[in-house]
Amino acid sequence: MARQFFVGGNFKMNGTIESIKEIIHRLNDSKYDPNTEVVIAPPALYLLLCREHLKKGIEVAAQNVFDKPNGAFTGEISVSQLKDSNITWTLLGHSERRVILQETDAFVAAKTKAALDGGIGVILCCGETLEQREANKTLDVVTAQLSAVAKEVKDWSKIVVAYEPVWAIGTGKVATTEQAQEVHAAIRNWMSKEVSSDAAEKTRIIYGGSVSEKNCRDLAKEKDIDGFLVGGASLKPAFVDILNAKA
Ligand code: G3P
Repeated sequence: MARQFFVGGNFKMNGTIESIKEIIHRLNDSKYDPNTEVVIAPPALYLLLCREHLKKGIEVAAQNVFDKPNGAFTGEISVSQLKDSNITWTLLGHSERRVILQETDAFVAAKTKAALDGGIGVILCCGETLEQREANKTLDVVTAQLSAVAKEVKDWSKIVVAYEPVWAIGTGKVATTEQAQEVHAAIRNWMSKEVSSDAAEKTRIIYGGSVSEKNCRDLAKEKDIDGFLVGGASLKPAFVDILNAKA
């Protein structure tokens, strides 16, 4: 069964009103494969700007969301506030939040449940550090991150899994097609055992970590790579080439 190709653009903590307006205009004017699902994740301050000005068909994601419905949680944003702003996706579990902000697997799982229960799709990030890979712990780490979510969530139909080896993020050292395909296949295999064969078949598993217009086509040819979560390149004109990786 063909899974719809999915490309997310994670702007991280980058951009200004002017620079993000430029990206919006570029994306609105670009020609790319209409079968590609495109989701843009700007910093929270610019969610409404993107939502109001991006053309129909391009969805907007938050880069994070809190697990409580509302109240005294200074600095946080709730699922209902995203819904209220017509934001339909959120990233969760990005390695920068797991490492820098010490977000635990359990916290990511609670936030995933809250987002899904509130009707927001989740781009669920997972991935190992170089040290963990060199210790042959890649699959232990990734399946532990995903298992924490599987404890809370039964319906994975609104989850896109993003495998992002930490050692490839922002380094220019993209995973080889073999490395990426191996982990993507292992994630799909884990899903068929721990979630369901239907979820394993239908869930998009996308790759992130130094994706560029130069490497995206080879990666996109891999059986279990259903798209990308793009960081640095999502801020550049070359992002459109990545949207066309399957075209
Ligand atoms: O979430 C995507 C990001 O972690 C990848 O960053 O700059 O290596 O494409 P980059």
